[in-house]
Amino acid sequence: MAHFADHCAPCHGNDGNGDTLYGRGLYPKPPDLRLAETQKLSDGELYWIIGNGIRFTGMPGFVPPHRPQDDWKLVLFIRHLPQLTMEERVEMERDNPKSLREHEKDYR
Ligand code: HEC
Repeated sequence: MAHFADHCAPCHGNDGNGDTLYGRGLYPKPPDLRLAETQKLSDGELYWIIGNGIRFTGMPGFVPPHRPQDDWKLVLFIRHLPQLTMEERVEMERDNPKSLREHEKDYR
């Protein structure tokens, strides 16, 4: 959860909806990771996407020192996103990159 908040949320949002400052500026935009389009992908496909990225889009490949075991945990967290609680969302805000949080406050 903390890892997603730090590395993924700037584009995908803490709840995975993709409606973020960076996400809105990207084409294609980050999809809502909670929806079937993403959730129907296999664990292996999600893992592959995290490690390799999606070429010609904003989705980066997270290469070493990003560790494979962390990518599997991120897969589990993506599975959890549709059930994310408000408490978890608030907890994640502590781990969001600070500059982004300040930006969002300034530009909202
Ligand atoms: C710089 C912005 C950015 C960051 C940071 C980022 N993503 Fe993405 N991500 C995207 C975009 C844009 C797409 C959509 C690409 C496309 O349409 O093919 C995407 C797509 C994905 C997908 C595929 C969803 C689908 O339904 O096809 C997964 C899974 C994903 N990201 C996971 C992650 C994880 C996990 C992290 C953090 C380790 C992360 N992303 C970090 C921008 C980002």
